[in-house]
Amino acid sequence: MLHRLKEKWNVSWTRFTLIFLTFALGGSACARLGNWLLSFVLTEKNAWYWIIYVPLITILWPLCVLTISIPLGQFRFFTNYLSRMGNRIFGKQSTKTKSIAIFASGTGTNAKKIIDHFKESSVARVGLIVCNNPNAGVLNIAADNHIPVVMVNRKSFLTDTVCLDELTLHKIDLVVLAGFLWMIPKYLIEAYPNKIINIHPALLPKFGGKGMYGENVHKAVIEAGEKESGITIHYVDEHYDNGDIIFQAKCEVKYGDSVSTLAQRIHALEHEHFPKVIEQIIKG
Ligand code: GAR
Repeated sequence: MLHRLKEKWNVSWTRFTLIFLTFALGGSACARLGNWLLSFVLTEKNAWYWIIYVPLITILWPLCVLTISIPLGQFRFFTNYLSRMGNRIFGKQSTKTKSIAIFASGTGTNAKKIIDHFKESSVARVGLIVCNNPNAGVLNIAADNHIPVVMVNRKSFLTDTVCLDELTLHKIDLVVLAGFLWMIPKYLIEAYPNKIINIHPALLPKFGGKGMYGENVHKAVIEAGEKESGITIHYVDEHYDNGDIIFQAKCEVKYGDSVSTLAQRIHALEHEHFPKVIEQIIKG
């Protein structure tokens, strides 16, 4: 049972222990504080005692748990946990945590940032990785984070609905392309209208299109003598790098930049903005 809870919260055993400790210490602090406060009003444990005690404890418990979570470094987990509980109790609309599928076929540094960003979020979580490269670094990241992986080959990806079936099975709400280099077939775009986004390592509409990925893009930017480059996050349609632009951020192309120095600057921009933009899109 503990193992299942750990999987559900998607945390390491160390964090799991700290969370458990927070629950235990918070619970006992809450009971003691409740008793102490009530001792000012009632001297014996009669029916009134329990009538007041239960609602008092209900109010004190979140406060105690949150306070204890600070020194134990679990504040973010508990704010999300309590907001989920609150949503469930008060029936707020946004109870459903959205599920993201990341399509990636490379190192997966963006995928990692996105996974980490949503790890304890009540807004969304990464529920699936789709990959077309058996040697991709993103596969290790998926394994480390216990995220299921679907491997696709070009023929099945383009012609049958295996991938769509997996997205449906995993109840995916948003598809995020983070270094996925194949064109997205029409059936997927139709199944996820305005729900597939891509990150491109340049300022579209310049330096986009077929063959424009990763280092090829930075090389083209440098060769064209551009003074600035950047990142573009956009909706995906049936053409390469063509859908509506959601977000762009710029950086300087410095004199003497190599492909790798420019790539580093672009990656830093991607890591800073991509998870936040995804969250904004999900929140609408
Ligand atoms: C990212 O820089 C992304 O912009 C690029 O692939 C890289 C993946 O890096 N995507 C494209 O070029 C799409 N046209 P990562 O595997 O380290 O996240």
